[in-house]
Amino acid sequence: MSQENIEVHVTDHVADVVVNRPDKLNALNGDTIAELTAFFEGLLGNDDIGVVVLTGAGEKAFIAGADISMLADQTVTEGRENSRQGQRLTRAIERAPQTVIAAINGYALGGGLEVALACDMRFASKTARLGLPEVSLGIIPGYGGTQRLPRIVGEGRALELILTGDPITADRAYEIGLVNGVFAPEELSEKVASVAVKILSRGPIATALAKEAVYRGGEMSMEEGLALESDLFGVISSTDEMREGLRAFLDKRDPSWKRKPS
Ligand code: COA
Repeated sequence: MSQENIEVHVTDHVADVVVNRPDKLNALNGDTIAELTAFFEGLLGNDDIGVVVLTGAGEKAFIAGADISMLADQTVTEGRENSRQGQRLTRAIERAPQTVIAAINGYALGGGLEVALACDMRFASKTARLGLPEVSLGIIPGYGGTQRLPRIVGEGRALELILTGDPITADRAYEIGLVNGVFAPEELSEKVASVAVKILSRGPIATALAKEAVYRGGEMSMEEGLALESDLFGVISSTDEMREGLRAFLDKRDPSWKRKPS
């Protein structure tokens, strides 16, 4: 599908995905959600891309939420469908075998924070503001925020954000474990790129299976999660990647996996 609301550039196995509606602070309208979903669902089986970095165009916003004009007159059926479309996007991010990093360069509010919550890591600019302001609009988070935020920061902190609707600073987000790091605005993309390069240097199948174990295991009992981990450990043991990784260690050299920055 054509991409009018997002830009995608792939360099050295890193896909930089930019939500590109800066005049609307990158708010997610239906087309933007559809374009992002198509991109992330298309990552399954893509061996060229190893890491995705998601950010927003301009200096002000990562994503300032779902496009409020799209929600204003929604019926019960449309409301449920709008939520499902956003959830399909956040699921696609989580299920992508590639590592997905949110570079939160400004406002990450409502659906914007919910998209970031589905990413594997979140790094924020010092000037970013993060929150779930839905209750101040008379709605609730609908793109997975009520489920993912408590899993990431704990119920008490999640409920404070969800029930007050107040945004927090990037530093506070770091304190509560909502973001993995905070950087000066001019350093954010470089710091995130260095994390991407590090992940690219690791085993590509190993990073994908480890991600799968964390997310799928998080939805299971401990027993089931441990069984899943053993199964995936078995899967990795069938790969040339594992043989090369272990052999390289014993030979005191770097492994020669194919997906590395040139
Ligand atoms: N949906 C639709 N349009 C949005 C939007 C959203 N979630 N967030 C911002 N915009 C639009 C504004 O309507 C404005 O458009 P206009 O220039 O055509 O009037 C433009 O983006 C710039 O936003 P503005 O409000 O003028 O910027 P600001 O710096 O004064 O305030 C925010 C920034 C983020 C505090 C403010 O835009 C805001 O509160 N946005 C809504 C956040 C929200 O509640 N998100 C959750 C939605 S479920």
